[in-house]
Amino acid sequence: MKYDRAYFDTHVNRKGTRSVKWDAGPVTCDEDLPMWVADWDFACAEPILEAVRERAEHPCLGYNCSDPADEQSFCDYWQRHHRLTIAPKQTFMMPCVVTGLKLAVRVFTAPGDGVVIMPPVYGPFRNSVVINGRTPYEAPLSRDEAGRYHLDFAAVEAMLQKGARCILFCNPHNPVSRAWSREELQRLVDLANQYSAVLVSDEIHADFVYQPAIFHSMLSMDGAEKCVVTFAAASKTFNVPGIQQAMAISFNEELLQKIAHEADCAGVTSGNTFALAATQAAYTACDDWRSGMLAYLEESRQIIMRELPRLLPRAVVSPIEATALCWIDLRAYAPTMDEIMARLKRHHLVLNNGTFFGELGNGFVRMNFACPHDRLHEGLRRLAAAMTEE
Ligand SMILES: Cc1ncc(COP(=O)(O)O)c(C=O)c1O
Repeated sequence: MKYDRAYFDTHVNRKGTRSVKWDAGPVTCDEDLPMWVADWDFACAEPILEAVRERAEHPCLGYNCSDPADEQSFCDYWQRHHRLTIAPKQTFMMPCVVTGLKLAVRVFTAPGDGVVIMPPVYGPFRNSVVINGRTPYEAPLSRDEAGRYHLDFAAVEAMLQKGARCILFCNPHNPVSRAWSREELQRLVDLANQYSAVLVSDEIHADFVYQPAIFHSMLSMDGAEKCVVTFAAASKTFNVPGIQQAMAISFNEELLQKIAHEADCAGVTSGNTFALAATQAAYTACDDWRSGMLAYLEESRQIIMRELPRLLPRAVVSPIEATALCWIDLRAYAPTMDEIMARLKRHHLVLNNGTFFGELGNGFVRMNFACPHDRLHEGLRRLAAAMTEE
């Protein structure tokens, strides 16, 4: 199979597949174009589908035992793509990354404690804190005139001084599409160590970083072995979030053990039959699909940067350094978020409401651009029509 432009240009009908993106929530009629939830409208790589089919051919679906090749395939993948050496014993498998965020909040803090988050940020960060009876200590990102976001180290330090002992961080960042630099990440690790805090780094978007930026794992910083726990998954890279498998990684055995123990206490087990087969295939046999998709998304990102300023000159797209998501400031076109969403609805375009990422997202939308290019053009056209309607 050739994973070229024609492959990613192909439309796959996802309706009626119990798809959150296509069958649920704000999608209410056939005309709606969903460009919201972060899964991609691309067919999975053939080796993944083949691995699932092959497993389904066996008539028994009993309990699995673990196979060291599962963890090893993850470690080899990270070595190959991110130059990071991880040993299988430094990993712990879990159902999904959000499970990890929630477990981390529970084991690294006590009820009522503060947990640092840096909005605007993926909604479940805040929810993981609040639902567990902890308090979000916000150190908002700052935004420059070009719409690029920056860490506010003074605000992070103020929250640590206020007593927070856990930081939830998104690397690369959803929704503002930042690929953080080594210097920025190192300063965070230094701060975490200075205040004896645990730094939790969600690296689910690690593979989606566009040149000239490169991805740096928080685990590769000096001092990371003391304070960093990272979560990663094949789910975004290979478009398999429905199979539900992710990994916690730490070079600090005690931190990893705490997560594993809490998972055990809650009866959270991992390694479902099909997820194991699919994930191992993803990590071992799909590098060609991965590079085809990244080349395609590089073109998608150029389409957005070229077309949006032409169609909507007063919208501000944050520079897309990473992820398959873009963050668009529409405040110049509509007075309120409700008005923005109402207009999008009238034009049958489904985007994420910016406030899902915190109050700082008021007036913004997030667009998922991992779809065939003609659909992306249509989404941009609808966005422009919605924002300029009389
Ligand atoms: C930053 C980030 N973390 C976690 C998730 C969800 O991951 P999972 O499905 O493994 O819980 C997403 C999904 O969009 C995400 O963007």
